[in-house]
Order: sequence, then C-alpha cells, then structure tokens
Amino acid sequence: MNKLPIKLLQKLQNRQTENALRNLGSENNLVDFSSNDYLGFSANEAIFNAAHNHLVANNIKQNGVTGSRLLTGNHDLYNMVEQQLCHFYNCESALVFNSGYDANLGFFSCVPQRDDIIFYDEYIHASIRDGITMSNAKAYKFKHNNLEDLKDKMLRYINEDGEKYVVTESVFSMDGDTPNLKAISQLCKKNTAHLIVDEAHAIGVLGPTGSGLIKALKLDVFARIITFGKALGCHGAAIIGSDLLKQYLINFSRSFIYTTGLSPHSLATIKFANEELEKTSQIEVLHENISFFKSEINKLQLKDKFIESNSAIHCCIIPGNDKVKTIAKAFQENNFNIKPILSPTVPKGQERLRFCLHSYNSKAEISQVLNLLTTFV
Ligand SMILES: Cc1ncc(COP(=O)(O)O)c(C=O)c1O
Repeated sequence: MNKLPIKLLQKLQNRQTENALRNLGSENNLVDFSSNDYLGFSANEAIFNAAHNHLVANNIKQNGVTGSRLLTGNHDLYNMVEQQLCHFYNCESALVFNSGYDANLGFFSCVPQRDDIIFYDEYIHASIRDGITMSNAKAYKFKHNNLEDLKDKMLRYINEDGEKYVVTESVFSMDGDTPNLKAISQLCKKNTAHLIVDEAHAIGVLGPTGSGLIKALKLDVFARIITFGKALGCHGAAIIGSDLLKQYLINFSRSFIYTTGLSPHSLATIKFANEELEKTSQIEVLHENISFFKSEINKLQLKDKFIESNSAIHCCIIPGNDKVKTIAKAFQENNFNIKPILSPTVPKGQERLRFCLHSYNSKAEISQVLNLLTTFV
C-alpha cells in the first residue's frame, strides 16, 4: 500500500540507468570549489554577530514571523531590507521573497498574461522555466546568448498581439558566461519588449561593490531578480523594479502570498550581509583568484576545454555522465570538492565539471586543482 507507484519507480530506474541518479551528500572538509559562497559570507562572523546583536538590542526574541507577509508576517525588518535594497541597487522598489526559486516562480507565473509572449534563453534557470510553464503566455526559447537568434524570433512573432518579455541571466549558473546585455536591452527597447534579468550569480561578484551588471551598465530593465543565497551567504531573494510592479506582485504572485515570511533572524542576516558587501575587500580578492585561475588554464593549455567566463563559475566540458562523474569522484578523493553537472541538467554531450571560485581559495589550491585536471582530460 505504501509502495511507490510503478511509473515513479520506472523514472528512478531510468535515472539509475543513465547514471544520473541524484543523492544527498553530507558535510565535508574538502577544499571548496563547489559552493555558491563566493565571498565566504556564509561563515562571516561579523555578519553573524551583527545580526544577532541587532535582534537582541531591539528585543526581537522571535523565532518566526507567524504567517504570510499579507497576514501577520510583515516584520519591520522587511521594510528595512527593502529600503536598503532600493538604495543599493538604485531602484524604485524591492520586494523580498523567500528564495530565488520562489521569486522566479512567482514572477513568471503571474506577470506575463494570456497572449503575451516570453522570449527566453535556452539555458535559463529551472525556476524561470517552471514559472513560465505556470503562466498562460506563449513562450519561445532563443539560442544561448545568441542575439541574432533572439532578433529572428522577435521578428517572427513581433506582430502578434500582447506584451513581449525577454528573460536572461547576467551570469548563467551552469556556464558562468554573460550575454551582451547592452545589445539585448537595445533590442528590447526597439521592439517595446520588457527585459527581465536574473542576477543571482552576478551579485557580490560583478559591478561596483558587487551590485550586479544592470547597475554597472546603467541599463533600464523591467525587473531584476537578486538572490541572497549565493555571494551573500544567507537565504532569500528580491525582485527589483517599479512601485507598481511591486504592488502587482503583492496582489498576484502566489509564491509570495501563500507562504510564511522569512524569520527575523533571516532578515537581519540579509541586512548585515548587504552592509558587508558595501565595504568588503573580498570582491577584489575573488577577482584576483578569477584572473589567476584563467592564467593557469592558459598556461596548462586547458583553455579550449573551458567555457569563456569572467565570473566565479568556470566549466570544463567533459562529455558523458559516466566520465564526468568518475573524474569528479577522483577530485573528491584528492580532497577537492568539485561537482559534476550531468545531463539532463545540461544537454547530453555538454556534461561538465563546474569550478566555483571563492575569495578564500588559495593560489596553491587553484594550481593544484588545475594540475590534477590535466591528468584527466
Ligand atoms: C540563476 C538562478 N536563479 C535563481 C536561483 C534560485 O535561487 P535560490 O537558491 O535562492 O532559490 C538560482 C539558484 O540555483 C540560480 O542559479
């Protein structure tokens, strides 16, 4: 009676056959080339202490916010964080969500309407795809970072009625590369399309004081998605845009409405992580490591195996789930935590090792890990 239905068992079996079965790992002490904690903020004591002291000093002895933000959950700290984000990202308004997944799901499931059109990069994050699937709009994918293909698709469908939306990422999570955002923004302007950019992996890494590429390039976009679970080392996300967009999301975004808000402790951590971002020296250190990594892959003649990237994410293509899994395991046995990215997460033949760089990786670790890579590829 409690057995898993046969269709589900078969799906698990297929994953096993394709050597793509996912399993939960456990904590380890391996050298970190895998986490999204680019600046080491997840273990930053100053942020931890500042959040704790703020809660104690303000007598906020509360473990949770007791409800949705529309009911009992709109803690004062939400206001503080959202104002801080407006100032930092130079925008009219910010709305905090429980996670980046929730933010993308909530946005794309409620903003584009029936007969509207969404143009999305084929490598867009799963949370955006899921949101698009839940919306009633039509959606067309364009080739990854390919402006010509986006132009063609827009040309083909532009005469259809309805609003047009274009969505991309400023740093792609599984590739580490960046689209030509200026050109995409101009194309959107020309075709009166609304541009949405997910900056999850750019925040804390690119732009002045890690404020992302949209601000750095002074682009006017319809919405930005920023997340706090990556370089900021905590949890949660925000959608940045106009006051009216915020009002709309508060009224119609189901992943915002029908869920308990973040705890005061989570919000205080976000607040002080944002403050730390404005003064940290770790972004510079991270960039030194990114440059060093790139010079080492050049020196070791590995460059053509890597996807070109100026971000903290660097991917070495190793086709085949079996092969990439075996190599990742060998890295782990040599004390390096590097994750294989398997199909179907990436297309078949494009399986890869994903090296995430951090400010706390030493040059010696970077050299060692790349020298080890030369023995496998
Ligand atoms: C581009 C992108 N957007 C959104 C998310 C989801 O963010 P979160 O981890 O806060 O749910 C991720 C995380 O994997 C991501 O890579």
